[in-house]
Amino acid sequence: MDQFFYYRKKKYSINSNGVFTKKSFSNIALIKYWGKQKNRIQIPLNSSISYSLENVYTVTRLIYHLKEKKRNFSVRVFLSGKEKTSFIPKILEFFHRISFYCSYLRDFNFVIETENTFPHSSGIASSASSMSSLALCIMEIEKKLVPSLKEDFFFKKASFLARLGSGSACRSIYPGLVVWGGHKSIKGSNNLYAIPYPYQVHPIFTKMGDTILVIDETPKQISSSKGHQLMNCNPYAKERFKCANKNMDRLISILKRGDLQDFGELIEHEALSLHAMIMTSSPYFLCMKPNTLNVLDKVWDFRKQSRKNIYFTLDAGANVHLLYPLQEKKFIMKLINNDLSSYCKKIIESFCI
Ligand code: DP6
Repeated sequence: MDQFFYYRKKKYSINSNGVFTKKSFSNIALIKYWGKQKNRIQIPLNSSISYSLENVYTVTRLIYHLKEKKRNFSVRVFLSGKEKTSFIPKILEFFHRISFYCSYLRDFNFVIETENTFPHSSGIASSASSMSSLALCIMEIEKKLVPSLKEDFFFKKASFLARLGSGSACRSIYPGLVVWGGHKSIKGSNNLYAIPYPYQVHPIFTKMGDTILVIDETPKQISSSKGHQLMNCNPYAKERFKCANKNMDRLISILKRGDLQDFGELIEHEALSLHAMIMTSSPYFLCMKPNTLNVLDKVWDFRKQSRKNIYFTLDAGANVHLLYPLQEKKFIMKLINNDLSSYCKKIIESFCI
């Protein structure tokens, strides 16, 4: 981790005021991260892989002002133009976590202005794209302070920092398929930062649509952080981590072969395994709503009848991501508009980049 340490300069090579703007995509995991190592900060218990999503992103403007005297962190946060004091504790916790690696943060007053392309209340996780875009802005400051900083290091450290804000955020630094968490079959994979998926991907998996069916817009009953923590005493946890690691091996082979049916079976199994863990935690809880199940039923029916490649995945909520090859989008949108839209509060069309 020492590679990410910032060696303090006596004099800063940065203007005393300025702004950096960065955009980050949201992501949807195919193999899910659910469970963190005890007594370690943001270290996953299994490796995960996600697609970054076009159309679903956060733009963050980080406005900085060099302070006369170094004091503690100073930050104000605005979401879509409205000041959000409720976001400050999370940002301060993030700044504390990364301060060892970015000691310069104490030397500035910051204003963070952030906007999501998706509605804040839509139940779509914004922490991945927002923490990732903030980490990229911070790295822009570091690049000014260390002009010799290499591009590869810029993204690695951005991913490392984003992870300390929210685990899945470290995958939002890169487009395409992104892996986080050490796995024996994936060269370069590690627990500290995410890497772009390094192996061959069949062309069918480079043009995948993702339509998000928003079933429930209310905030989650239980935060992801709490859900991860509950894995530490889930009686099925060990098997789940083993299974996730095996699924990663299966996915590597599927991505190479271009087998959509195997892909679909795997991602649906992963999504339901995540929910099985949620339902068997103590305390147990349920994220799916009746309309989530109605949608899953219809998707299975439609697939049986039409033999079209349409598959679902879920995050830790009620909303459904439908994944399909973009070349089949016309049929799929017909299904969505005719048979599924009545179960949804909103429909967000996206695709995997
Ligand atoms: C179900 O990254 O939101 O979306 O690290 O506590 O911020 P924290 O959790 P978070 O967990 C995401 C869990 C998931 C699966 C995934 O994206 O891999």
